[in-house]
Amino acid sequence: MKMKYLFYPLWSFVVAASPAPCHTRSEKPPAFILAGDSTTAVQAANGGGWGNGFLSFLRDGAWGVNKGHNGATTVSFVKGGDWATVKGYVDSKKAEGYEVYVTIQFGHNDQKPAANISLEQYKTNLENLALDIKSRGGTPLLVTPLTRRSFTSEHNASDSLHNERLYTIAAADATATTYLDLNKYSLEYVNAIGNTSAQNYDLNGYGADMTHLNSYGSVVFGRLVADLLLQKEKGLEKYFTPNETLSYDLQHGIAA
Ligand SMILES: *[C@@H]1O[C@H](CO)[C@@H](O)[C@H](O)[C@H]1NC(C)=O
Ligand SMILES: *[C@@H]1O[C@H](CO)[C@@H](O)[C@H](O)[C@H]1NC(C)=O
Ligand SMILES: *[C@@H]1O[C@H](CO)[C@@H](O)[C@H](O)[C@H]1NC(C)=O
Ligand SMILES: *[C@@H]1O[C@H](CO)[C@@H](O)[C@H](O)[C@H]1NC(C)=O
Repeated sequence: MKMKYLFYPLWSFVVAASPAPCHTRSEKPPAFILAGDSTTAVQAANGGGWGNGFLSFLRDGAWGVNKGHNGATTVSFVKGGDWATVKGYVDSKKAEGYEVYVTIQFGHNDQKPAANISLEQYKTNLENLALDIKSRGGTPLLVTPLTRRSFTSEHNASDSLHNERLYTIAAADATATTYLDLNKYSLEYVNAIGNTSAQNYDLNGYGADMTHLNSYGSVVFGRLVADLLLQKEKGLEKYFTPNETLSYDLQHGIAA
């Protein structure tokens, strides 16, 4: 592999670039509620994201549920009742003694013209979701959208969620919410490994779906989300089964 495709050393970059607070946690086990679109959702015929792969690493009393909804936007997720379900989980898991985290990742559908959601509105919606979780005593985690694996050349995936990444980060900054920069690191990763390797994660077979993930892709990008989280939220390590090989590959741009 050529040097120019190698990752920046991931952890040092995250620490240097991110002024977001590193919380020191209580001893309560974490509960993770995953809110988002199909790039978070459970693997199915027409959708599937990183969520279940992320949850597969939980251990030691940690709990999680994947509420990703295929086709969802920041508007439809609320209007269709999914957000009410998420809030119900926040309340019940808090009452059961968990420290509750809610990952919030949208953008793939919000950006479609038919959704008619401006970037400003998208940002405001993300802010409202984050504040809603905080007001219930949970910890929101804004996640920048998983990259698509649609390439213009072998080592250049199209940066098609560039603006959604920037507005998600702006929403996090405006609400003092921790964000996980999945878009940046997933894009760098697929660019490093190249189109040929990146299509191994496609839902429905090699080269078939360059947005959604198969079960293995879910584990790979779920690990990336877990590693980004562990970098920012101290004290959660014991609740995640490590996979040092996979984490190493992700940090060094090696095809997993
Ligand atoms: C799009 O949204 C704007 C702002 O809410 C609204 O004024 C406009 O009517 C909408 N357009 C369509 C085609 O729905
Ligand atoms: C990427 O790989 C897929 C699957 O083999 C192929 O259909 C596509 O043309 C490739 N894209 C580029 C830019 O090489
Ligand atoms: C990747 O492709 C885009 C769009 O074609 C182009 O603007 C950009 O310069 C390319 N990046 C690299 C590193 O080749
Ligand atoms: C770690 O990840 C690698 C690559 O995805 C996988 O092959 C391996 O089975 C995993 N190891 C464990 C202990 O889960």
